[in-house]
Amino acid sequence: MHLPSLDSIDVSGKTVLVRLDLNLPMQAGRVTDDSRLKRVLPTLQQLIASHAKVVILSHFGRPGGRVDLSQSLAPLVNVLSEALWDRPVGFSPDCVGLTAKLAVENAKPGDVVLMENLRFHSQEEAGDADFAAQLASLGDVFVNDAFSCSHRAHASIVGINPHLPSVAGVLMQQEVSALSSVLSNPNRPLAAVVGGSKVSSKLELLENLVSKVDKLIIGGAMAHSFLHAQGYMVGKSLCEYEMKNTARRIIDVAQKSGCELVLPTDAVVARSLKKQSACEVVPVSAIPGDAMILDMGPMSILQVSQHLMASKSVVWNGPVGAFETSPFDASTITLARLVAGLTRAGVVHSVAGGGDTVSALSHAGLALEFSYLSTAGGAFLEWLEGKELPGVAALMAKKVASCELPVASAASN
Ligand code: 3PG
Repeated sequence: MHLPSLDSIDVSGKTVLVRLDLNLPMQAGRVTDDSRLKRVLPTLQQLIASHAKVVILSHFGRPGGRVDLSQSLAPLVNVLSEALWDRPVGFSPDCVGLTAKLAVENAKPGDVVLMENLRFHSQEEAGDADFAAQLASLGDVFVNDAFSCSHRAHASIVGINPHLPSVAGVLMQQEVSALSSVLSNPNRPLAAVVGGSKVSSKLELLENLVSKVDKLIIGGAMAHSFLHAQGYMVGKSLCEYEMKNTARRIIDVAQKSGCELVLPTDAVVARSLKKQSACEVVPVSAIPGDAMILDMGPMSILQVSQHLMASKSVVWNGPVGAFETSPFDASTITLARLVAGLTRAGVVHSVAGGGDTVSALSHAGLALEFSYLSTAGGAFLEWLEGKELPGVAALMAKKVASCELPVASAASN
């Protein structure tokens, strides 16, 4: 999949609208994880070095179309400035209208201006065409570097493209290339590790993967629904009993399509999820009625390890145990370490993504050890479900050659 890239256009002296995902985890006004910000710096640096006026568009949180200053992007001005080696960053308290227009007009080539939260306007999430046109009127060129928002058909994701020459940023290119190649052209065997709590939230993902991967390794609480479908008693474990038939169908499809479905054969169980609770290892055929499965057991870890060692590509989404609470993080950490080691040795190409997955890998200190770690949560899931992402489709629909670039528009003069 080839997206129009930043290298294909001359942005010198142009006003460039850059859609980023600055929806960074924050607590008490402080960024607690700046990985997403670090990953968009190459795009920003390239634009600054090309003497473009850089206008950053982003959402933050879910303010629901109302101004809510607790979800303002203002605290990110200093964070951005620091990340850009103390380059001053301007701020516009609104992303459209006169305020926004003036903020853009006052900036010079090479300057960076951050616009206030797009989602303070309800038209953003509604994908409103007029709102998108207002945003577009602020610039000459549009760069989408927000793969992690590209599953949303929001105004800033799909509505600016029809008005301006539009290209993918560096991170967007990386995400699309890494994620396309691992599913469409992987070195085989390809194994998928899918964890998390609910079959229902990952149903489409499982159905898509089962026909694409050679081994589907299921862990986390979603494995309990599969165990239940196979006739095992799962005690007090989290389990979607109503997904029994769905789980059976996935097991059948796996068999028919030659995909090896790998489920835990033993489990770490406890009566409480509290830290360091007393726990025991039991086979999945002997889960006590008053206990919960909280992690894979050692036999399952060994079996899954053997499958991973026999694979050449691995896609990972979701923790395979209750990783937030020790000691129930053991299987996630052990298996993540193994994949990291196989990746380092050049034996495996590994791609991981999804909100909890990134937290789990960071928790294990392995976030940088996979071949590719996606910044996306929901967008990564939808990609694995085989869905077309509106933001990516909008870029594909508009391949841009540099000769199509307009001379600086009235809005940016
Ligand atoms: C994310 O954090 O995954 C993106 O910023 C999208 O956020 P949303 O789920 O609120 O659209």
